[in-house]
Amino acid sequence: MQFPVKHVLACALLAVGATVAHAQTVIKFSHVVAQDTPKGKAAEFFAKKAEELTGGKVKVEVYANSALYKDKEEMEALQLGSVQMLAPSLAKFGPLGVKEFEVFDLPFIFDNRDDLHKVTTGPVGQKLLDKLQKRGITGLAYWDNGFKIFSSNKPIHQVADYKGQKYRIQSSKVLEAEIRALGGIPQVIAFGETYQALQTGVVDATENPPSNFYTQKMHEVQKYASMTNHGYLGYAVIVNKKFWDGLDATVRGQLEDAMKQATAYANQIAQDENDQALEAVKKSGKTTIYTPTAEERTALKKALVPVHKQMESRIGKETIQDVYQATG
Ligand code: LMR
Repeated sequence: MQFPVKHVLACALLAVGATVAHAQTVIKFSHVVAQDTPKGKAAEFFAKKAEELTGGKVKVEVYANSALYKDKEEMEALQLGSVQMLAPSLAKFGPLGVKEFEVFDLPFIFDNRDDLHKVTTGPVGQKLLDKLQKRGITGLAYWDNGFKIFSSNKPIHQVADYKGQKYRIQSSKVLEAEIRALGGIPQVIAFGETYQALQTGVVDATENPPSNFYTQKMHEVQKYASMTNHGYLGYAVIVNKKFWDGLDATVRGQLEDAMKQATAYANQIAQDENDQALEAVKKSGKTTIYTPTAEERTALKKALVPVHKQMESRIGKETIQDVYQATG
């Protein structure tokens, strides 16, 4: 049987179309925070740029707010290849066996963002990302969030005020030591379950930068917060190594470019997002914000800095020294 030429052509075009559609690579990017945060916005920015720069060859699906996976599950899903990209907080790499990242959790290790960037944009940061390779993970970038504040249902001014309270923490041994150094009781709870844990009294207190505090509505269940800025919370953007290495080299280059732009964007908006969130908390009238006096902050620092030495055997002396040296 003979088919008219135009039918044959139409079929050929359909087949090409199907191949093109089939050739689209999907990157599932899962994270646990709200869309309206530095990480949430940067993930959306990356998705848009990736699609633009690859000419639609890559589609990035962003799943915010633990919609796909919670903290622990998302790491497992990445290694299994069920998701391709994550941006976990630097405090969440210990359970993966890469304990060195907990250096970022050491209280008072960074005086400000400039100090932090000396690490994240230099050889020390790169050396840490390289350690992920042995876990089947490639580290692409560091994204900022900000410095943490302590919150509670009791006023926390003096070091003694921290004592005896139960604190929700991320899964980091350094954060556990930090809370113990204050006489508190640390409890690891997934980010997505924190609001409920505070609301129901499973824990009394917590720590996070204002953007997470506000967008998770923690201000509704915490009466007091103290502007301690005692530690840093930020992210490593990571991908499944097998997936990443298997990409066409040109496409991978375009995605690296998209990531570079998303990183610049993330780090540019992080401070503003936190400032705005803090203002929103104040405006809500639900959490009283306290700024510690210079003496109170010095006393807090004195109580917490011994954690550096204490955690040397876990993080590695060399990594801690690398960070000290990079920050001058
Ligand atoms: C937390 O668990 O408190 C944070 O790591 C959440 C996040 O991703 O910012």
